[in-house]
Amino acid sequence: MSQCHMLQYLARSTYPCWGHLAEAVRSAPERLQFTRGLQEVWSVHGRSVLTAFDLSPFPVVCDLGGSSGALAKECTALYPECTVTVFDIPEVVQMVKEHFSFPEEGRIHFHEGDFFKDRLPEANLFILARILHDWSDEKCSHLLQRVYHSCTPGGGILVVESLLDEDRRGPLTTLLYSLNMLVQTEGQERTASEYCSLISSAGFVDFQFKKTGHTYDAILARK
Ligand SMILES: C[S@@+](CC[C@H](N)C(=O)[O-])C[C@H]1O[C@@H](n2cnc3c(N)ncnc32)[C@H](O)[C@@H]1O
Repeated sequence: MSQCHMLQYLARSTYPCWGHLAEAVRSAPERLQFTRGLQEVWSVHGRSVLTAFDLSPFPVVCDLGGSSGALAKECTALYPECTVTVFDIPEVVQMVKEHFSFPEEGRIHFHEGDFFKDRLPEANLFILARILHDWSDEKCSHLLQRVYHSCTPGGGILVVESLLDEDRRGPLTTLLYSLNMLVQTEGQERTASEYCSLISSAGFVDFQFKKTGHTYDAILARK
């Protein structure tokens, strides 16, 4: 049976509503709720993405777009030697300092900036969790090149995303996330090969990925 009417309804009613979500997220209460929502997942899935590879050779970590620092907290708990700089836009960093608590004080620092324009801190490991899926291939390449330049030789990049199967027919959850990205952002979910191509083009080598069996998967590459 034709799905024409539902598609028209989604296009004419639902889709325009979603088009205003970015404005909603820009309001302070919505931003706080979004950030609280983002952090919750790492109490469940943080360990699986941070132990997919041994990250102990990387004591100086920068979590780009690290939001509330939830993944940074998991990282400092799992790797006692590491310190993490959480890099995010000023509005998010200020809100996090006001509303979130940090018992690991001293090992987690916040840095305000725009990762497309401002100087990135030097680090042994850059974590990009749910960052690349927000952006077009062009913007991902630009960001990855900037990360490559700030990464110490022998350092690495850990990309945390939900990976699409190579035939792009699943997993279903990731396909739905990808549709969501199409509506809300300029990005999409990608396959491991697509990430490999983007990350390798920026200069990184030794691309490896691990499907964790949970919602988010892990990719590691080295400089
Ligand atoms: C989808 S959230 C992911 C947050 C976190 N990494 C996680 O997985 O929970 C994207 C994050 O990137 C940040 N961000 C977006 N554009 C940015 C930019 N130009 N510079 C720095 N941070 C940015 C947002 O403020 C937000 O915290």
